[in-house]
Amino acid sequence: MGQRRATITAVGHYVPEKVLTNFDLEKMVDTSDEWIRTRTGIRERRILEKGATSDLAVEAIKRLFENSGVAPDEIEVLIVATVTPDMFFPSTAAVIQEKLGLKKAWGFDLSAACSGFIYALITGAQFIESGNYKKVLVVGADKMSSIVDYTDRNTCVLFGDAAGAVLLEPTDDPEYGIIDHVFYMDGSGGKYLYMPGGGSLNPPSHETVDKKMHYIYQDGRAVFKVAVVGMADVSAEIVERNGLTGKDIDWLVPHQANLRIITATAERMGLDLSKVMINIDRYGNTTAATIPLCLSEYWECGKLKPGHMVVMSAFGAGYTWGAVLMRWSLPNPPKPRPDVARYCEEMDSRRFEMVEELKIKNEVGK
Ligand code: ACO
Repeated sequence: MGQRRATITAVGHYVPEKVLTNFDLEKMVDTSDEWIRTRTGIRERRILEKGATSDLAVEAIKRLFENSGVAPDEIEVLIVATVTPDMFFPSTAAVIQEKLGLKKAWGFDLSAACSGFIYALITGAQFIESGNYKKVLVVGADKMSSIVDYTDRNTCVLFGDAAGAVLLEPTDDPEYGIIDHVFYMDGSGGKYLYMPGGGSLNPPSHETVDKKMHYIYQDGRAVFKVAVVGMADVSAEIVERNGLTGKDIDWLVPHQANLRIITATAERMGLDLSKVMINIDRYGNTTAATIPLCLSEYWECGKLKPGHMVVMSAFGAGYTWGAVLMRWSLPNPPKPRPDVARYCEEMDSRRFEMVEELKIKNEVGK
C-alpha cells in the first residue's frame, strides 16, 4: 500500500480594503509608476490600516470555513507562516486560535519569509502523512506594511498586506494531493535581505529606532540575481525528477516578488504564460501570503480545477527556496464571490498585457 497523502480540501483568502497605488507612492518617495511597473509588474498593493497579521489570517480562515462548511472545532493543528507576527510571543497561531475558537487545535508560527507558505504546507503534510492528524490548517499571512519604511523607495514599492489559508486532509486516492517537494536554505544570503532590529541581537532601543533597524533592508540587485536562478532551477528540478515536462504542468504558482523572476521561471520550465498564476499587479509581494492568495483566487474563478498538476515555487530571505508538486483535488465553487468575480474575466488577458508592458529584461535564458 502506498503512503497516505495530504491534499488541499479547502481554501480562503483576505486582502484589506485600502489600496496604495504606484501613483500614491509617487507622492511619498522619488519613484514613478513607470519604474515600478516595468521593474516589478506591480501596480498597486493593499494596506491594513487597523489591526495585525492575525486579523488578516482570521478573515482568510473565516472565508475558508464558509467555502467548505468545516467548523472551527474540527481543526487539529494550525501552522502560521509569517515574518510579521502580532508579537514575538505568544505565537500568532495562539492568537488566531483564541479569536476563532479553534478549541481542539495546537499550533505554532513558522518563519521562512517568502518561502514560509510552502515550508508550512509540507510541515503540515507530514502530520497528515504520519496518520496522526486529519485536519491541519496552514496559513500564510503578513502585514508587511508594519515593517516597511515608507521613505525608502528601494523597498516600499514592493510589499503589501494579505493572508491566504488552506486546509490539509488525507486522501486515499493515490492520484491526488501533495506528491513531492524540493527545499533549500543558504544562510550566507542572510545579509542581503533582513530586518536587523528587534530580536535578541539588536533589542529595541532608541538607537535601533533612530537607525531605522526595525524595517526591511534589501539589496535588491543581489537578491534578484540569486532568486531568478534559484526559483527557476528548483521549479525545473521538481518537474524533471518526477519524470514530467512543462507539458504535464497545468499551473505554476510562483511567489509574487517580481514579474521578471516569474517569467524567467516559466521560461526555464518551458511553460506558456497561460499556465502561470499572476496577481502581483494587484497585491505586490505579500510574503507568506502570495501563493495561497493565488490558489484561492484562481480556484474561486474556476481556473484551478480537480486533476490539474500544480507546481508552487518560492524564493525568500534566508535564503530559503523550494518547490512543491501536487495534483489538485478540490472541486470549484458554483461561482466566485463578488470581490473576486470582477477579476476573473480579465485574469488571462491581463497576464499577457503585463508581460508585454514589462519589456522583459530577464538576463536568464536569453
Ligand atoms: N523608483 C525609482 N528608482 C528606484 C527605485 C524606485 N522605487 N528603487 C530603486 N531605484 C533605483 C536604484 O536606486 C538604482 O539607481 P542607480 O542605478 O542610480 O543606483 C536603479 O533604480 C536600479 O536599481 P536596482 O536595484 O538595480 O533595480 P532592479 O532592476 O534590480 O530592481 C528590485 C529592483 C525590483 C528590488 C529587484 O532587484 C528585485 O525584484 N529583487 C528581488 C526581490 C526578491 O525576490 N526578494 C525576495 C523575496 S522578499 C522576502 O523574502 C521578504
